[in-house]
Amino acid sequence: MTSRVLIVDDEKNIRRTLSLVLTSSGYECLEAESGEAALTVLENEVAHAVLLDIGLPGQDGLQTLDAIRRTYPSIAVIMISGRATIQDALEATKLGAFDFLEKPLSRDRVLLALRNALQVSALETEIDRINAGRSDDRILIGESPTFLRLLETARKVARTQATVLITGESGTGKELIARFVHEESPRANGPFIEVNCAAIPEDLIESELFGCVRGAYTGADRAREGKFESANGGTLFLDEVGDMSANAQAKVLRALQERVIERVGESVSRPVDVRILAATNRNLEREVEEGRFREDLFHRIHVVPLETPPLRARPEDVERLAVHFAHVYAKRNGLPVPTLQRAALERLASRSWPGNVRELRNAIERLVILSPGPEIGAGDVSALVPEHSRAGSVAPGSTTSGSFARRNDGPLALVREHGGLPAARDAFERLAIEAALDESGGNVSEAARLLGVERSNLHKKISKYALEPRPPRGTGSGA
Ligand SMILES: Nc1ncnc2c1ncn2[C@@H]1O[C@H](COP(=O)(O)OP(=O)(O)OP(=O)(O)O)[C@@H](O)[C@H]1O
Ligand SMILES: [Mg+2]
Repeated sequence: MTSRVLIVDDEKNIRRTLSLVLTSSGYECLEAESGEAALTVLENEVAHAVLLDIGLPGQDGLQTLDAIRRTYPSIAVIMISGRATIQDALEATKLGAFDFLEKPLSRDRVLLALRNALQVSALETEIDRINAGRSDDRILIGESPTFLRLLETARKVARTQATVLITGESGTGKELIARFVHEESPRANGPFIEVNCAAIPEDLIESELFGCVRGAYTGADRAREGKFESANGGTLFLDEVGDMSANAQAKVLRALQERVIERVGESVSRPVDVRILAATNRNLEREVEEGRFREDLFHRIHVVPLETPPLRARPEDVERLAVHFAHVYAKRNGLPVPTLQRAALERLASRSWPGNVRELRNAIERLVILSPGPEIGAGDVSALVPEHSRAGSVAPGSTTSGSFARRNDGPLALVREHGGLPAARDAFERLAIEAALDESGGNVSEAARLLGVERSNLHKKISKYALEPRPPRGTGSGA
């Protein structure tokens, strides 16, 4: 289906240029010269995205944006501006603009923004289909572009036979994504077998994976098939793959290369047809460098990497997750579903959640059970979910604590100076953002890139720290 884009700009030249660029890339274009005209067009025509100039005569771009988002929430709106201030950009983000482009416009930037916007809005619809008929603890929640893109990639690789390595901090949903890949794959009707390599004692992991003959080890009172055989025709999920012993690594490598396994204590080769998914919250590249993980095996499983982003990198997902978990835990405990007040949601979204979604889930469970009334307020959050609680508990090895364990007074001095880690962290964050904005000449997109964070997230931080908006480089209009 051809996507249709409505171009709204009072300058005819810009409309024409954009229209040429988009048409030559296969889009259909509609045009409007004012906000009012744009709304009239949308009443009569179908559009999938809108490119909207911010400085329009009459009803301005932000008002128009607001009107479009209210009436047509599925249309992605990209703002265009000649003199973007950070405040405009912030306001536009708040009102639900998908992206914010500054003039002069580059063809590539416009096309990229449009492609992303259309992809994300299609995914938003898609996620409902994905979740239909899933049980509560299999439902995938997220509306941030980061999360939706992860799902899209996961769905793409699901259709292939490729080995997938899922990395990400503890509690970010690695297992959920692994199941999703299996369910969206041609092997969905086959078994999904999970092995937690960290939970199995080193001397048992080989027989667990490959099976064994009777008497292969003390207690092996009968021959057993291993997980590779159980997963035949389906998917084998090697969770915490970084925790496998060297011997097990060698055997897994062979199984992957030759598609055969041998039970422990036997020399019969048995063919297996298994698709491998692996997950780890360790940095496997570093494990390879330090000689704890085989490089050849790493390359074998690292064919398609998927990274589950930490929750703090997508605070816009916190609300939906919180509301979802509130339903789940109220139902599970036979309690009425509480309402989460806006202030409570904002407080939750501003937390850093080192234990990620799992920690948030546990926090909501606690709130549902312990909060006194039918409404949960910001006060309940502060009282019942202490800041930096480790309720979600970060798995050992998942943090960089090693490097902090070394004696080093610098950071601690900073922490003392600010009266605690949270304030010291904020102070550092603020400094880094200021430096990035300086470096980018006030361009928020560029600053976000320098900082390695999402632009929408950076806007939130800029307002949190009330940073001075700076005029962007090359102030002035013109397309
Ligand atoms: N996007 C999401 N939507 C809904 N629930 C989620 C999402 N991501 C994670 N969860 C929930 O959070 C919890 C932790 O997820 P999961 O076990 O997949 O994390 P993990 O990355 O495998 O963690 P670990 O490294 O500790 O094993 C689960 O209850 C899971 O259902
Ligand atoms: Mg896991």
